[in-house]
Amino acid sequence: MVVARNSPVEECSVHYWEGQPHDEKGMMGGFEYLSPRDEANSRRMIEAYLLRGRKYFEYVAELGAGIGRVTTRVLLPYSEHIDVFEPVAANREVALKTLPHDRCTFYPDTLQQWTPRRESYDLIWIQFSLIYTSDDECLALLKRAQRAVQGRRGYVVIKDNMPLGNAKPVQDSTDGSVVRSTDHLLRLSTAAGLKLIRNHRQDHWPIALYPVSALILQSS
Ligand SMILES: C[S@@+](CC[C@H](N)C(=O)[O-])C[C@H]1O[C@@H](n2cnc3c(N)ncnc32)[C@H](O)[C@@H]1O
Repeated sequence: MVVARNSPVEECSVHYWEGQPHDEKGMMGGFEYLSPRDEANSRRMIEAYLLRGRKYFEYVAELGAGIGRVTTRVLLPYSEHIDVFEPVAANREVALKTLPHDRCTFYPDTLQQWTPRRESYDLIWIQFSLIYTSDDECLALLKRAQRAVQGRRGYVVIKDNMPLGNAKPVQDSTDGSVVRSTDHLLRLSTAAGLKLIRNHRQDHWPIALYPVSALILQSS
């Protein structure tokens, strides 16, 4: 099944997020108590599979960064400079207040608009926001990400709600999101010239919620 876009992104996902609380609870959809588990799992993953002898990443991009929850507690300890992309102004305001300006630069681009330079990033992190793309948009975005990490042996990390195997995509008209299976996302990644390095499952996650996985990808 191919997931298409029915309405402009500004009218669905961005509009939805403008109306959500601009805090930890809002970012986690009411499950803010899961934040520490999510963040600890991501830090363990970075240390085990991404750093590979490096002390830190020089240039990092985070897309759909919200109020900077992941930026602060997952990426900053391992990054020299982070470009923080988030389309909702009120979320960016919170991030602007909490993140160090000498190490972070803030941009309003959506995933659809984001256009990085070639070979510009060592790590591109996309968490709980790729669900706001159609298949065409997702493929185009991953192609741009592939060109941005190619040549630097950089990584693209997609961490999101990800049912196992080849489950059908689930669209939600409330926020304009689509939850895609691991297989579906891997097909799009392969078509974009990215190969899977590791599928890192989030542990200790409530069974009533979608499983969460992090796909670590590199240019193939
Ligand atoms: C569930 S929150 C996750 C925020 C952050 N990644 C985290 O894990 O804490 C989803 C974020 O995606 C952003 N978003 C929604 N539509 C987007 C789009 N089309 N492009 C980029 N970001 C988008 C929202 O504004 C919101 O900040």
